Amino acid sequence: MRLSPPGSRHRRRMTAIAAAVTAAAVVTGVVAVQPGAGAAPLRQHSRLTIGAAISNSHLGDALYVNTWRTEFSGVTPENEMKWDATEPIQGQFQFGPADTIVAQAQSAGMRVRGHTLVWHGQLPAWVGNISSAATLQSTMDNHIRGVAGHFAGKIWYWDVINEAFSDDAAGSRRSSVFQRLLGDGYLEHAFRTARAADPAAKLCYNDYNTQTANAKSNAIYAMVRDFKARGVPIDCVGFQTHLGGSAPQAAVQSNFQRFADLGVDVQVTELDDSTSSATTEAADFANVVRACLAVSRCNNITFWGVTDKYSWITGQPLLFDGNYTKKASYTAVHDVLAAAGTPADPPAGGTLTPGSVVSLRATTACCTDRYVRHQNGAAVTSPISSSSPALDKADATWVVRSGLASGSCLSFESRNAPGSYLRHRNYVVYRQVSDGSAQFDADATFCPQGAKAGSGVSLASYNFPTRFLRHYNNTVHIASNGGPNAFDSTTSWAADVTWAVTGPWA
Ligand code: XIL
Repeated sequence: MRLSPPGSRHRRRMTAIAAAVTAAAVVTGVVAVQPGAGAAPLRQHSRLTIGAAISNSHLGDALYVNTWRTEFSGVTPENEMKWDATEPIQGQFQFGPADTIVAQAQSAGMRVRGHTLVWHGQLPAWVGNISSAATLQSTMDNHIRGVAGHFAGKIWYWDVINEAFSDDAAGSRRSSVFQRLLGDGYLEHAFRTARAADPAAKLCYNDYNTQTANAKSNAIYAMVRDFKARGVPIDCVGFQTHLGGSAPQAAVQSNFQRFADLGVDVQVTELDDSTSSATTEAADFANVVRACLAVSRCNNITFWGVTDKYSWITGQPLLFDGNYTKKASYTAVHDVLAAAGTPADPPAGGTLTPGSVVSLRATTACCTDRYVRHQNGAAVTSPISSSSPALDKADATWVVRSGLASGSCLSFESRNAPGSYLRHRNYVVYRQVSDGSAQFDADATFCPQGAKAGSGVSLASYNFPTRFLRHYNNTVHIASNGGPNAFDSTTSWAADVTWAVTGPWA
């Protein structure tokens, strides 16, 4: 088996390659288990992404921005991606405020949740006034393509549909212009359109009062089960979790788990609590975090704001008070995350040969919990789950197909989708079958370039030798070593063009 393409480009590099790979192969990942409560911010504590809804209108408040960037690893634009903000007039899209938030998130290495493509709320009057099903269908498609297309490659998860179910005892669909004119089918149509518009984003159904089993969550459960059975592209269910002073852990956890068992990711998307009791709020938040940590497919908790000062709910619903002082609820969340720790890296060591199982971990300080993994065919960087190591390790490891002898390059085959390889197309890296199709570049090989300072191996594309495996907003790209995206730029691209080759993992 010889999968390394022959060629003089390899040979010119061979001495450096051999030395670098030998060095990289023994790089040992740091086991970063955090101690209990301390000064470390929320974002450092766990496999979970800890997000906050951020409003463009408060970005001039330095304490607001500083608290967001210090404590959180994710963001949801609070209003800026909604229909009335992005297409207030038919066919006239505007993205300025959302672009500002996305750019700030990217510069801080944060994940962005897109919220939301189709919702009865904050919907411009012109959409509600449409009376023809055909017109509404094309209008909805055009909106999804316009918005998801604009942000394509930058969104971690999209709330494709928000709040399509009512609060009645029958778990009915909510009345809306979409439901009235298009019927139940508008939901799956929206998911399919969103998938086509941004194949790299994971797609969620999002709703409130669904964190425990009840008529609404039962109806959503039935819908998701049906979608999965019929191949409708849904990846996730978002639980808004706007609490009112109660969050029994067992009930939340079992509800999250039954959705996870359908094969979708679970996310807490808009957590806050309208209780007037600080103690109750702290206990509620701790219960939600514990429930999420106990479900391996629960990978995100987003709070619906940073500070009580700007919450959409009057009172004290969030983690920080109006002076940005940490509340009891902050300490509770912090301590649960800290107790859970950060997953350990796999054992290092060994010599890489064909058949070695490796994982590629980013080495730069921002992102050392990020591995090259795949989701829906695209390559992404994301942390490994501690609570489901078997599942996540399998998804985060690659089999070395080519040897590392002099002159060879590396070809990575997915360990849990054998027959598919790390490849690139239009500079985005995908996990794709090696089918020789003209669609994909014939570049399922990467050539180690030598360790950069601080150890790690840098991987260049075989057929675009000046382009390197890098990641940007959690998606893996090949990007050149120069220009605005130069090595070690910390402004837009993470300075993570090197990868620690950890493993082999038995
Ligand atoms: C809220 C925002 O926080 C407010 O600023 C806005 O005026 C109304 O919408 N469920 C959702 C969110 O999905 O989009 C809502 O956000 C809160 C309830």
